[in-house]
This record gives sequence, C-alpha cells and structure tokens, in this order.
Amino acid sequence: MSKSISDLYENLKKENGIHTNFSQDMTYSEYLHLDTVLSSQHRLSGHHDEMLFIIIHQVSELWMKLILHELNAAIESISEGKLSNAFKMLARVSRIQTQIIQAWDVLSTLTPAEYLEFRDKLGKASGFQSYQYRLIEFALGYKSKHILKIYNNKPVIYQALHEAYHAPSIYDVSIQALSKAGFPINKSLINRDFSVVYSGDPSVKEAWEKVYTNVEKYWDLYELAEKLVDIEDCLQQWRFRHMKTVERIIGFKVGTGGSSGVNYLKEVLDHRFFPELWDLRTKL
Ligand code: HEM
Repeated sequence: MSKSISDLYENLKKENGIHTNFSQDMTYSEYLHLDTVLSSQHRLSGHHDEMLFIIIHQVSELWMKLILHELNAAIESISEGKLSNAFKMLARVSRIQTQIIQAWDVLSTLTPAEYLEFRDKLGKASGFQSYQYRLIEFALGYKSKHILKIYNNKPVIYQALHEAYHAPSIYDVSIQALSKAGFPINKSLINRDFSVVYSGDPSVKEAWEKVYTNVEKYWDLYELAEKLVDIEDCLQQWRFRHMKTVERIIGFKVGTGGSSGVNYLKEVLDHRFFPELWDLRTKL
C-alpha cells in the first residue's frame, strides 16, 4: 500500500529530527518576510503572463539591491586601500550580473501578443524609473541629473540618489588608488566635482598603461582594473540583452516611459564607464 505524504513526513521527522513545533521559534518564512515578498505580485490585468513580467522585474530589483550592497562596500574598501576585500565583492557583483543577464532568456518566452494583453495597464511606468538601476550607474560613474527629478516627491529615494550623485564612483576611488600607489595623477581629479561624468585624462591613461605593462609589480591594481572591466562588460551584455528582448517584444514602439524605445536603448549602449581601461587594449 502506498504511503500518504503525511506518513512520509512523519517518518522523515522521526528519522531526521525535523522540527515541526515553532510556537517559540522563528520560522524560515518569518526570517525571510515571505508573507510580504510573496504577496507583492499584483497583476493589474489578471492576465496569466503578467505574473512573469512582475516577477522578472522584482527578481532583477532584488539582485540590484545586492549589487549595490556589494558595490558600495567595494568603493569604501578601495578608498581605504583594502583592495583584496573589494576583489571579493566585485567578483560577486559579476556573478550576480550573469544571473540578471540570463533572466532575459525567461522573459523572451513572452510574445508580443501576450505583452500587448496587459501593456496598457502599466501607464507611464517603466524600468527607466528604476532608482536602484540609477544608483548602480551612479556608483559606476554614469551620473545623469534628470533622474533625480523623477523622485522629487519621494524624499528618502531622492536623498539616496542625491548622495550617490555627488559621491565618488568606483572609478574615482580607483584613480585615487593609482595616485596613492605613486602614479603622477592629475591633481584636479582627486577631489573633483564627482557629479560630473568622468571623460578621461592622459595621466590616468598613462598610469593604467604602466600597470598593464608591469603586471607583476602592480598586481593589485591590475586585478582591480580587470574586475572593473568584468563589471562593465556584464553591464553592457545586460543592456544589449534588454535592448534585443525589447525589440523582440515591442519592435520599435515608443516606451511606456516616453523614450523612443529600442533606439534609446541602442544609444545608451555607447556609454563607457571606464574609458581608459578599454582604450589601453588597442594601445598594448
Ligand atoms: C517586456 C519587457 C520589457 C520591455 C518591453 C521594456 C522596455 C523598455 C523601454 C522601451 C525602455 C526605455 C525607456 C522607456 O521609454 O520606457 C526601458 C528602459 C529600462 N528598462 Fe525595460 N523593458 C522590459 C523589461 C525590463 C526588465 C525585466 C527590467 C529589469 C529591471 C527592465 C529595466 C529597465 C531599465 C533599468 C531601463 C532604463 C535603461 C536606461 O535608461 O539605460 N526592463 N525598458
């Protein structure tokens, strides 16, 4: 006679000492606040495929939260000269990025017809307004002021964006690290206005070239540079997969956020975060 699930469970309990009485203890779902997390998927259209659309965004935002947690700690470690601590965090960022790049494979199962069933329910909402995505861009050095305006009426988010907008990016602290290591970095870069997008400097270019041509001598800085390139590479892959997935689903329609859609997403692909680290590859 086949055993019922509860019989099997009772056996497991006996054999493995599994806990079932939680009257005094915290449970798994309490620790993770699963009640909140799992009750936050509200389909506005009631359409079956809207669940995928909501969850893919929520999962991406959760991973972005961890990316920010790691990136900000890495910025602090680099500015304190603790490069190996930063390497561990930056390696984790790249691994997370591969997860959110792969997430596009799941979303590409959404067909144009399915998306059109609920697209109008989104109104003007768009990933363009993702403040965590902007905080990541700010931490990497791409500062666009108009983003702050979106959050004029949300003081906590506005404050976080405002602080990150004026704070040194991971590339700024890396340039400071080059200077601390004795490279003759242009002094005006060390305490520059960090809200201005960095566009390159000959002293930084020369310093990185020295690092890459004397790898053993400057191993730490070389490793730092390669970790940064990993992150930018992954971010570009994410942008590209986003752009292609969007083209596959909505073609060249304008975005819900009001941009030209795919053409806008193609334009942002051109932005580089760490220009010298890419340029030197041609020079070497
Ligand atoms: C059916 C799926 C999707 C479509 C059709 C779509 C479409 C678009 C479009 C057209 C834009 C340009 C801004 C606008 O006018 O709205 C945009 C921006 C953006 N989307 Fe998506 N998107 C999709 C899925 C996602 C997902 C899953 C994420 C993950 C969080 C995401 C995050 C973003 C971000 C961060 C931007 C800003 C990009 C930038 O300004 O560089 N999108 N999206």
